[in-house]
Amino acid sequence: MGAQESKWQYFLFSFLSILASTSYATAVPNEVLFDVCQTNDQPNPIASLYPLNATGTLNGTVTVLPISLALARKLIPSQYRILEHAYRHLLPSFPEGMYPAILEALHDHDVQAFGYQIPDFSRAGIEFPFLDLLGDNTTSFKWAPSLLMTANNEIALNGAMEYGTNTFPATFQPSCDAYSAIPDAKQPGSTYFSANSSDVGAACVSTIFAPTLEEIFPLSFFKNVTNQPTFADGKTCDNMIRIFNTSVTTAPNTIETVKGTVKAKIYPFTSEQEWSDVYGLRMDTAFIENNYLPCENFRGYGS
Ligand SMILES: *[C@@H]1O[C@H](CO)[C@@H](O)[C@H](O)[C@H]1NC(C)=O
Ligand SMILES: *[C@@H]1O[C@H](CO)[C@@H](O)[C@H](O)[C@H]1NC(C)=O
Ligand SMILES: *[C@@H]1O[C@H](CO)[C@@H](O)[C@H](O)[C@H]1NC(C)=O
Ligand SMILES: *[C@@H]1O[C@H](CO)[C@@H](O)[C@H](O)[C@H]1NC(C)=O
Ligand SMILES: *[C@@H]1O[C@H](CO)[C@@H](O)[C@H](O)[C@H]1NC(C)=O
Ligand SMILES: *[C@@H]1O[C@H](CO)[C@@H](O)[C@H](O)[C@H]1NC(C)=O
Repeated sequence: MGAQESKWQYFLFSFLSILASTSYATAVPNEVLFDVCQTNDQPNPIASLYPLNATGTLNGTVTVLPISLALARKLIPSQYRILEHAYRHLLPSFPEGMYPAILEALHDHDVQAFGYQIPDFSRAGIEFPFLDLLGDNTTSFKWAPSLLMTANNEIALNGAMEYGTNTFPATFQPSCDAYSAIPDAKQPGSTYFSANSSDVGAACVSTIFAPTLEEIFPLSFFKNVTNQPTFADGKTCDNMIRIFNTSVTTAPNTIETVKGTVKAKIYPFTSEQEWSDVYGLRMDTAFIENNYLPCENFRGYGS
């Protein structure tokens, strides 16, 4: 049996055991057992196309956080070269001496495989794309060392921990959507997102964004970084394939360029950081996820 198949059985097993343990308490009213949390996310449009793969939707904001190359070099483990030529190829006018770290703050919705569905969850983490994991000076990998994730979603938390990710069980606002409108905001369309680790003070991310007409980074850049094979401890890689041509993404006005503020305290940063006037995309995409693969499989990926 392949490693990937056995991991999926582990996922299914933990899912089924959660179902089994909750059904013991049938005398307790449903509202006590399950958070009544109605998401605004559209259903997974590709589950029936790929019934044997893990699919779902990711709604949320992907933001470019410019940091100095010197800081990036300090934060990223020294064995991974930064492929500056790769991001300059996509972003020729990115400021000299700077590196694009990426914040993904997302709601994972309607995740299915083999006809099973896992409960929705939220997550947020700062990622480091364009890293030379294989030492070929060509293939771009993304280091995702830590994640705040919905507390109690054991399947999602275990799934991330298997990669060696520093996972922080957390509470999110809003709790079952990717972002929410700020009432009476000065700028129309302003939304917030906030996550705090259950271990108080260990990690947090909060954002405020509003739509902007400025287009600083092209869609092709976001497609590229969200599709790079991803690793944490480097022992296996996650192939998250984000698909930009399904109904959840192509309906009119569903990809919005936004500008705003990000505050975050999360490993590998050692103190709270704040970025103002940063740019991102607010969007929903379908995805197919192929888990726990040898990173070597991705030599030359994407080119
Ligand atoms: C994405 O999330 C926002 C906030 O909940 C929601 O308004 C929007 O409809 C969602 N998009 C899709 C395609 O589900
Ligand atoms: C679906 O899963 C199979 C088996 O793991 C894998 O070989 C295939 O590439 C996946 N399909 C896509 C579109 O990623
Ligand atoms: C990596 O490739 C880039 C672009 O081709 C080149 O400029 C650079 O010198 C190479 N670096 C190494 C260490 O080979
Ligand atoms: C996280 O903590 C901050 C500061 O105490 C608070 O303003 C925010 O509402 C909290 N967010 C969540 C999701 O609990
Ligand atoms: C949608 O995009 C995927 C790659 O992300 C591609 O394989 C597929 O052919 C595209 N489908 C359509 C209908 O364009
Ligand atoms: C991202 O862009 C780089 C530089 O052009 C390219 O080498 C890589 O294959 C792309 N990766 C993906 C997943 O599209």
